[in-house]
Amino acid sequence: MNDQPIRLAQIGVGGFGHYHTQALLQMEERGWVRLAAAVDPALDLEKNLVLREEWQRRSTRCFGELRECLRQMTGQLDAVLIVTPIPYHFEMALACVDADLFVYLEKPPVATVRQLELLLKHPKSDRIAVGFNRSCWPCFREMKAAIGQGRLGKLRSLRASALWPRPRAYYERAAWAGRLAVDGLPVFDGPASNALAHLVMGLFQLLAAQCGPACSVVDLEAEFYRAHEIESYDTLSLTARMEDGVEMIIALSHACLTELPATIEIRGDEATGIIDVDSGFSTVNGVVLTDVLGGSYYAQLVDCYENFCRGVQAQSGTDFNTNLEDTRGYLTLLETAYAVAKGIRTVGKHHLEYDEKNMPGCVGIRDIPVVLRELMNGARLFSRCPSASWARSGQANEACDGLRESLAFHSPGRT
Ligand SMILES: NC(=O)c1ccc[n+]([C@@H]2O[C@H](COP(=O)([O-])OP(=O)(O)OC[C@H]3O[C@@H](n4cnc5c(N)ncnc54)[C@H](O)[C@@H]3O)[C@@H](O)[C@H]2O)c1
Repeated sequence: MNDQPIRLAQIGVGGFGHYHTQALLQMEERGWVRLAAAVDPALDLEKNLVLREEWQRRSTRCFGELRECLRQMTGQLDAVLIVTPIPYHFEMALACVDADLFVYLEKPPVATVRQLELLLKHPKSDRIAVGFNRSCWPCFREMKAAIGQGRLGKLRSLRASALWPRPRAYYERAAWAGRLAVDGLPVFDGPASNALAHLVMGLFQLLAAQCGPACSVVDLEAEFYRAHEIESYDTLSLTARMEDGVEMIIALSHACLTELPATIEIRGDEATGIIDVDSGFSTVNGVVLTDVLGGSYYAQLVDCYENFCRGVQAQSGTDFNTNLEDTRGYLTLLETAYAVAKGIRTVGKHHLEYDEKNMPGCVGIRDIPVVLRELMNGARLFSRCPSASWARSGQANEACDGLRESLAFHSPGRT
C-alpha cells in the first residue's frame, strides 16, 4: 500500500470485536491501518484494567464512550469499525458519518427499515460498508459468478435452511440478546438478523447476480416461533415470491439439539447449485465450484478490510463488498415477514426436548430435523409440515410495543 495507514477506531472491543481486533492487528502489521482508538464502556471497568493496558501498550487511545472519542480525536481519524450491540448501530453510524468518517458497520446494519432509510438519507451514507463477511466467502463469490454467466439458467427458487443450536448462555450473554427492543430501542435479535444473517443476505446477493439489487418481494407468508424463554424469536420460516418470479424459502432455528449446516439451494431452469455455507463447499449440478473456505476466519475478515481500506483510500464506497443500499431487500424482507406473521408464537412445552448431558442449556423442538426436510421438500412453511403439530397451535403474539412502534413507520400490511 502506498498511502499512509488508515487511522481507525474500533468501537466495541469485546464479544465478536475480539476477532476484528486480531484481523486489524494483521492489517496494522501490513501497514494498511493504524488502530488509533478503542471505544468500549467495558474498558472503563476496574476488572478490565489488563485489557485497557494491552490496548494502551499499542499506543491506542481508549475511550468509554463514542462521542468523547469523536470529540477528542477530531482530525485524527479516517474510519471506524462498529462492532457493538445491534440497538446502537443506527445512532453510532450516524454520529460517525456526521463526523466525516468512513464506517465498517457489523451486520445487521441497523434494526429496522426506518433506521436504514434515515441513514441512507445522510449525504455521506455511501461511506458505510456493512460487515456481511461470510456472504463474501469464495463459495458465494463463485456461485454469483456462475449465476451471472447463466450456468444455472433462469433462477426459479432460492432455499436457505439451518439448524444451529444455541444454549441459554447465548441469550444470557448480553442484555440485548434475544430481545425485540431494549430501553425503547429496536433490536429484533434472532437467527435471521444475527447468527444466520449472512445466509439470508446471501440469498439477496445471489439474486442480484441475475436480477440486480432492486428486486423486491411481491408476496410473502411468514411464521416466527420461540422455544427458548426469550422475548424475540428463535425459529422462523418464510416463503416469498420476488418481483421477477423467483421463490425464496427460508427456514432457520436455534431451538434444536442437532446441528444442520447453513445451506442454500439455488434452482435454475438449467441447473441446481448448492452452497454449504459452514464448510465453504459449493457445487453446480454436482460439479464442485469451491471446496474450501478460502482461509481462516481472520483471513476472511482481513479480506473484507482490504476491500474497505481500498474504498477509504479512494474516498468512495462504490466498490464496497456490501454497501448500505445493498441491505434494503434483506431488511425489508425481515420486517415485512414480522408484520405478516403478526408476531411470534410460543411453542408449547410438551413439544420441546432437552439433552443436558450432550447439549447443556439447549432446547430443541421435537423432530425439527424431520420437519425441516418436509418444509424444504414442498411444505414451504412449518405450519404446513405434517410432522409439525407444534406450529399449528397457539396464537402469534406481538408482545413488544417498542418494536411495533419502530416498525410502524414502514411495515407494509399495517395501517
Ligand atoms: N460477522 C459475524 O460473523 C458476527 C459474529 C458475531 C457477532 N456479529 C455482530 O457483531 C455485533 C456485536 O455482537 P456481540 O455479540 O459481539 O455483542 P456484545 O454484546 O458482546 O458487545 C460487543 C462489545 O460492544 C461493547 N459495547 C456495548 N455498548 C457499547 C457502547 N455504547 N459503546 C462501545 N462499545 C459498546 C460491549 O461492551 C462489548 O465489548 C452485532 O452486530 C452482531 O450481529 C457478527
